[in-house]
Amino acid sequence: MTNEPASILIIDDEEAIRDSCCMVLQKQGHDVRTAADGVQGLKLLEKELFHAVLLDLKLPGLEGREVLTRIKKDSPETPVIVITGFATIESAVDTIKRGAFDYLAKPFSPEELRVIVRKALESRKLYTRSIALQEEIDQKAQIGMVVGRSASMVKLMDIVRRVSATDSTVLITGESGTGKELLATQIHNYSFRRNAPFVVVDCGALVETLFESELFGHVKGSFTGAHETKHGRFEVADGGTIFLDEISNISLNIQAKLLRAIQEREITRVGSTKPNKVDVRIIAATNEILAECVQSGKFREDLFYRLSVVPIHLPPLRERSEDIPDLLEHFILKNNQKARKNIQEISPDARKALLEYAWPGNIRELENTIERAVVLSEDDRIDLSDLLYHGIGSNLSFLQPPGGQFKSLAEVEQEYIRIVLQANHGNRSRTAKILGIDRKTLLAKIKKYHLA
Ligand SMILES: Nc1ncnc2c1ncn2[C@@H]1O[C@H](COP(=O)(O)OP(=O)(O)OP(=O)(O)O)[C@@H](O)[C@H]1O
Ligand SMILES: [Mg+2]
Repeated sequence: MTNEPASILIIDDEEAIRDSCCMVLQKQGHDVRTAADGVQGLKLLEKELFHAVLLDLKLPGLEGREVLTRIKKDSPETPVIVITGFATIESAVDTIKRGAFDYLAKPFSPEELRVIVRKALESRKLYTRSIALQEEIDQKAQIGMVVGRSASMVKLMDIVRRVSATDSTVLITGESGTGKELLATQIHNYSFRRNAPFVVVDCGALVETLFESELFGHVKGSFTGAHETKHGRFEVADGGTIFLDEISNISLNIQAKLLRAIQEREITRVGSTKPNKVDVRIIAATNEILAECVQSGKFREDLFYRLSVVPIHLPPLRERSEDIPDLLEHFILKNNQKARKNIQEISPDARKALLEYAWPGNIRELENTIERAVVLSEDDRIDLSDLLYHGIGSNLSFLQPPGGQFKSLAEVEQEYIRIVLQANHGNRSRTAKILGIDRKTLLAKIKKYHLA
């Protein structure tokens, strides 16, 4: 229970009541102010902060009920205790519906007054704490938010909202760093499965033998090293969503098993013959063009169709540069919090460079750039010099560092190869062609400069 001194306002036209309440509360260490009518009371409320208000219902002039309405409108966190005569208890009950904390019926004892004030002060504390928590939650939600108001993002988010309400399998495609995983999370969070697990499986990360058991689980002794029975990711995701990232990387053998899992909605652990039912929504993602993988025989056509019930393509950032300003603001805010900085603005030349850059690494690259710039910045502003080392605005700036030292040819070559490689998503043949060198030479340079 709180016994901290608080600031309390008493609004009552009866001097005797004001004085007696004042005495009781002052004895408790509270700071008490009084007003003889509603207008005077509201004036005090405008000027000072009160932790609680005692309000007589029957006041000359402005009525108690009206005073209550105004207090609740201007400072909903302030608890108001209504004082009422026996005859008006009914209307006192009515004031609770209008937001009063509680009522005290005259005559009341000092102890009754003390208890009700203490409770009111506690309720105020809880109220303000819950507001603070809500703000924290809102802020966190904002950080995981999909930012973007470009026409393509608006259209895409509309599809996301509609598809979230269903159990349809979704295939998200897009270059590396365009936000495929973030979008998958968003679909899960909008869906009725939001309180169940969202399980991410990186299909490129595991060797085939382990991958099957990772997905579907295994029974004890089913292979060397299987000492315990293990739940697969599908079982872990039961009731929720499984996100199969880099789906184009799975072998044809696993593709067949995955197809069965999707069709039958059941999985069989490695080493077992008994299938288990699972209730899982599937979202897959890839930065390859899956249809091409089907053509080249790397990906099963039937699985491709099963997965792409709802295909969603995330355009690369260079095709939606209208999103860049919002993204900059979003990532500055996020990294200000993370790095305890207070970056307020971006210098015009830095902004221009950020807007003109092609972002081959898409939003991930933009995010990393801002994260580093926020950390590097020595004042409240991101300047071009905070971006330079990254190669932003590089087309010019890495050749002509303002005020800096000029680079060697080898450094420029390294930087340039890196940029072209990134712009071509690591495709070496294409990069070699653009650079006018043969693939072997490029590979040698990649090795030399540790670009891989
Ligand atoms: N529209 C967006 N708004 C805010 N943040 C975004 C947005 N898109 C992506 N991000 C952020 O950019 C980073 C990269 O996104 P994500 O990991 O979802 O990309 P990806 O497409 O899965 O990349 P990869 O193919 O390399 O796995 C994440 O930190 C993500 O939060
Ligand atoms: Mg990803």
